Amino acid sequence: MPEESYVIRVEDVHKVYSTGSMVTWALLGVNLNVKRGSFITIMGPSGSGKTTLLNLIGLLDRPTKGKIYIDGVDTSRLKDQELAEFRNKKIGFVFQAFNLINRLSVIENIELPLVARGVAKEERRKMAIEALMKAGGDLSWVNKRPNQLSGGQQQRVAIARAIVGSPTILLADEPTGNLDTSSAKVVVKTFLELNKHGQTIVVITHNPEVAHCSQGIYVMRDGRIVSTLSPDPSKCLIYQ
Ligand SMILES: Nc1ncnc2c1ncn2[C@@H]1O[C@H](COP(=O)(O)OP(=O)(O)OP(=O)(O)O)[C@@H](O)[C@H]1O
Ligand SMILES: [Mg+2]
Repeated sequence: MPEESYVIRVEDVHKVYSTGSMVTWALLGVNLNVKRGSFITIMGPSGSGKTTLLNLIGLLDRPTKGKIYIDGVDTSRLKDQELAEFRNKKIGFVFQAFNLINRLSVIENIELPLVARGVAKEERRKMAIEALMKAGGDLSWVNKRPNQLSGGQQQRVAIARAIVGSPTILLADEPTGNLDTSSAKVVVKTFLELNKHGQTIVVITHNPEVAHCSQGIYVMRDGRIVSTLSPDPSKCLIYQ
């Protein structure tokens, strides 16, 4: 069977949140196809549904209606435990607030996804160091606690943790939102470098200079993708 060229397929996805008597229609029929090896960004005003969509693609939650295919698999067919295992294998997540665990050392943080997979300790350490290098990190960070590093350094550790298991898809929700410009540049350069080596990447950003570094910009409004824009690489953050 030929390898599917779309590694993410979102088909008419709706998402309703119900909390008490409050019902919020966060997504109202989203369609999105992402090609293997591409780097795309999602923009749009606050509350337009960006995080909701990324969490669904990242299999952290399920759609109310519609389907999500990851690497050709109809994820609605997976039971909760199967979905968790599939997510661990296929998805790497990076968040605005880094979400590292300060009780653990940098290297232990990076190893976490591998612990869940049952990779042996020595192999884990080797893979974690490799991921840290790919994410533009430094060996001197290995035994530090995350909170002993700058924001930009912590985000590189978070990227290392996200890629350590060689996920099919790297997802990032506002990864540069908490960073100064020079740290944001390092993070964007890391994404571009990973993408050059074939990594599929989806990034939510409020910063047009980050969006212009990608290969396609999807604009959301009121729970829908309302337009797609062609980036202008000369406006990418790393050239500013
Ligand atoms: N867990 C939840 N329970 C109830 N409502 C939610 C939940 N998460 C999001 N919402 C609502 O769904 C809508 C979309 O939210 P979402 O977080 O996806 O927006 P966003 O585009 O990521 O916004 P921002 O740019 O501020 O991060 C909003 O109206 C929000 O209040
Ligand atoms: Mg959000």
